[in-house]
Amino acid sequence: MDRRSLLKYSFSGLAASSLLSIGVRESLLEKASNITDDLGSSANDEDYWGLVKNQFRFEEGLYYFNNASLGPCPNLVVDATNQFRALLDGFPSKYMWGGWQDEKEATRQKVADMFSVDKEEIALIHNTTEGMNLIASSMDLKAGDEVILSDHEHPSGTVPWQYWQETKGIKLVRPVLPILPESKEELVAVYRKAITSKTKVISMVHGTNTNGMILPVKEVSQMAHERGILVGVDAAQTAGTFKIDLHDLGCDFYAASGHKFMFAPKGIGVFYAKKDSQKLLKPLIVSRPHYNDPSIRRLENYNTRNYPELLGLGTTVDYYNLIGAEKREARMRELKHYFRNALEGDSKFKFKTPVSEDLSCAIQTVEVVGRKVGEVKADLFKKYKIDCRPMSGYGINGVRISLSVFTTKKDVDYLVEALKAI
Ligand SMILES: Cc1ncc(COP(=O)(O)O)c(C=O)c1O
Repeated sequence: MDRRSLLKYSFSGLAASSLLSIGVRESLLEKASNITDDLGSSANDEDYWGLVKNQFRFEEGLYYFNNASLGPCPNLVVDATNQFRALLDGFPSKYMWGGWQDEKEATRQKVADMFSVDKEEIALIHNTTEGMNLIASSMDLKAGDEVILSDHEHPSGTVPWQYWQETKGIKLVRPVLPILPESKEELVAVYRKAITSKTKVISMVHGTNTNGMILPVKEVSQMAHERGILVGVDAAQTAGTFKIDLHDLGCDFYAASGHKFMFAPKGIGVFYAKKDSQKLLKPLIVSRPHYNDPSIRRLENYNTRNYPELLGLGTTVDYYNLIGAEKREARMRELKHYFRNALEGDSKFKFKTPVSEDLSCAIQTVEVVGRKVGEVKADLFKKYKIDCRPMSGYGINGVRISLSVFTTKKDVDYLVEALKAI
């Protein structure tokens, strides 16, 4: 097989075999890893990134700049998940009720390694929304206690506080974040000002879904902990984009969706709870077998659940490691600058995402001056088959462009030409 076909390999030959064991997956990954290593792989190497793109099965003619809404799975993950599903359907009761215990724990370990934490700090949940609900529903707050939620939170971060806590008479403090800060300190200052002696929790998004602004979780966590305040983080838009060491970040809780920039199957998510803060969490669902388990497993009491997707998450982390966190991040940053350089200085466009490396990475939101964003989005799709997300809140009026490891510079050139024509 040549490199291209090997990189597009499928697991079809394994369908008849009895088990897609972790061993089988590892050896296939090793093969793929040798091939990609041959190629050289700097952030600029279009041959390499073209091969990466070939590992995804997009609809013919589609230009996908909407990873922030939902990510695709690479072939490796699609095929592994399908195989897990086939195995499950071949002997449902065996695999659902304990047959995959070791594989599940191996997946937990891989996720823990990806975020540089202990496996006893990771629960395998469904998505960010669930994780944010878990945090808000768990906190034992009283009337008058305050929770800081900036104005720029996603509804998955705000609605749970409103739903689970407002009846207790807690106060939601909603400071306004600048859209285009020039430094982290500007953002930290907003949080510093919002803290009072009644603040119990800061719930914050790691990357905003509107303009991809990255918030200074580490600095805010340090400041919060000095005052005995807990910090919960919505990581839907950052997990998978750059290297995240959760102990270094320092927050108490971190909820992420596997199905955005990580490229996991849909409906699997990651929840981190720092060891010391775990005791504060109360499961959203209680059932067998872990309802009275003191470990973090008590937070994943689903009984019957989506095991193929859960184990597919393990393959997702294998795929993540195949390219490597550093290489992935470098590529997204390279694309960010390539895209921005093509439009900046042209008065017909205005970027609505901060430029500093500290403050943005894979998401860049841009306004076509003088046009409503809904029309721009519609034209991009109708005339060019480009999918992206329109953002109109916060005075943004811009299309949100997600740049990802499956994006080539040719794709960006095509997008830039389309935007200029529009
Ligand atoms: C910042 C942010 N938080 C939470 C979510 C919700 O993600 P999920 O539906 O996977 O829970 C999204 C989805 O776009 C998001 O952008």
